[in-house]
Amino acid sequence: MKILKVLVSDALSKKGLEILKKGKKLKVDVKTGLSPQELKKVIKDYQGIIIRSKTKLTADIIDSAKLLKVIGRAGVGLDNVDVAQATKRGIIVMNAPGGNSISTAEHTMSMLLALSRNIPQANASLKRHEWDRKKFMGVELYGKTLGIIGLGRIGSEVAKRALSFGMEMIAYDPYCSIEKAKELRIKLGGLKELFTQSDYITVHTPLIKETRHLIGEKEIKLMKKGVRIINCARGGIVDEKSLLKALKTGRVAGTAMDVFEKEPPLNSPLLKIDNVISTPHLGASTEEAQVNVAIDIAKQVADALLGRGIRNAVNMPTIPKEIFKVIQPYISLAEKMGSLQMQLIEGRPQRLKVTYSGEVINFDLAPITIALIKGLLEPVLPGRVNYVNAPLIAKERGIEIVEIKSSASLDFSNLISLEIETDKRKSSISGTLFGKNDPRIVVIDGYYVDAVPSGYMIITFNEDRPGIIGRIGTVLGENNINIAGMTFGRRKKAGRAITVINIDSPVSDDLLKKIKKFKWIKEIKLLKL
Ligand code: NAD
Ligand code: MLT
Repeated sequence: MKILKVLVSDALSKKGLEILKKGKKLKVDVKTGLSPQELKKVIKDYQGIIIRSKTKLTADIIDSAKLLKVIGRAGVGLDNVDVAQATKRGIIVMNAPGGNSISTAEHTMSMLLALSRNIPQANASLKRHEWDRKKFMGVELYGKTLGIIGLGRIGSEVAKRALSFGMEMIAYDPYCSIEKAKELRIKLGGLKELFTQSDYITVHTPLIKETRHLIGEKEIKLMKKGVRIINCARGGIVDEKSLLKALKTGRVAGTAMDVFEKEPPLNSPLLKIDNVISTPHLGASTEEAQVNVAIDIAKQVADALLGRGIRNAVNMPTIPKEIFKVIQPYISLAEKMGSLQMQLIEGRPQRLKVTYSGEVINFDLAPITIALIKGLLEPVLPGRVNYVNAPLIAKERGIEIVEIKSSASLDFSNLISLEIETDKRKSSISGTLFGKNDPRIVVIDGYYVDAVPSGYMIITFNEDRPGIIGRIGTVLGENNINIAGMTFGRRKKAGRAITVINIDSPVSDDLLKKIKKFKWIKEIKLLKL
């Protein structure tokens, strides 16, 4: 049994470590506090790595991780991982979303309240033995408008809590459905509307190109005078320079920050300002959240490495376990179809059209199409392509992929049809599942067949004449090659036909040439699936 190694390079709750250590298939090493150089050296021995926010997985560290299959982030944010490079290298990147949402939402609410009632400042003042009740006059949340930017897991939890405080709410999230907003009893609006109407603004988006400095000088100018801004998401969503200016002029009455453009923000002028309250990235720092994310990521990484399914991967479609069980036979069929097609076709693939019909259209087709692309590329890029990087490699090679769901009625309960266009010719195959798990190729280039896509296969295009099957059978028999199955298809009597033979072992080129000598055989190929 091959033991797979997992490196845990940031502090992880012991509940997560226990999961990884359960069973004997994974060996877990905890090495925290490694410098980038040290990490670059040690990472090459590991198939999996689990990190939090401290470890930075840059492109060059990822490149030196020759065995790495899975990166697991105990938490949400992946700004410390070069996901694009990992994808290129075919490494699955997964996070553990959800486990710390409640903690972060509660932290946001604490910030909202502390900011409104000057709690940190009042506490510090009292500890200096001052008794100043006037200075710390606060404001109520009740009846105020809270603008929420990003209505995902944390934004939604904040909304639920703010509602119970009697706050009015407006949210901006271009990817949130109206139904979800309705359910949360929150109004979805545009950013401008949110900026002009809100008394408090809290951000809960990822830090991406579109959200970097989403709140800057121009945006602050649109806001109500005396607005309060909270950032418990990622430093950089709010432009700290513009915020500082606005805090000094009083345009922004106060701000609460758990995250900073540079962490730790020790030299940040914001920390010197009275109406700024701050915490050192504590949103997810609760006992519960740390246990939750550690358990989630440990289970996910173990499952991914041990082939038990992939969840919460950010660079490939996630398939819940129950669904995976049902679509796995389609994934396997599609992969075989891609491989078969690639080995049959000549020229460079330029366009791929995959048409799904029958029962299969009820499933998420993305993983099935990815499997098909992987199967297609594998014969030409053995060992380089996997479910993570297959779509990217296809894109880099300029292969256009079209996915179609067809409602056409069929002779089969489900059908996957693949048409491929290369710089030389077009070709097509169709495959189906007999029963729940029995893959068959049923059409090749318009010829109906009934072939099991498995192991070694000989495919010939020939004239439909007597003696072909006998001839092939004799040559194979004489060379001790066992035939496991055979099917043939033709469009008309004595016309062009196809013969598909499953054999138990490979055949040499010489043997193929010998078979091809038979004058009715026009083309012959050995395929390995
Ligand atoms: P999520 O993916 O559930 O939600 C993010 C939301 O942002 C999504 O609904 C998405 O549609 C929306 N969004 C994306 N681009 C947007 C844009 N341009 N404008 C408006 N909305 C946009 O993520 P989440 O789990 O709710 O996490 C939110 C943020 O909180 C992330 O940045 C995460 O890293 C951070 N976080 C911080 C802490 C902490 O310790 N302070 C803890 C957990 C998460
Ligand atoms: C997250 O993204 O999950 C949080 O920022 C917490 C953390 O960094 O662990």
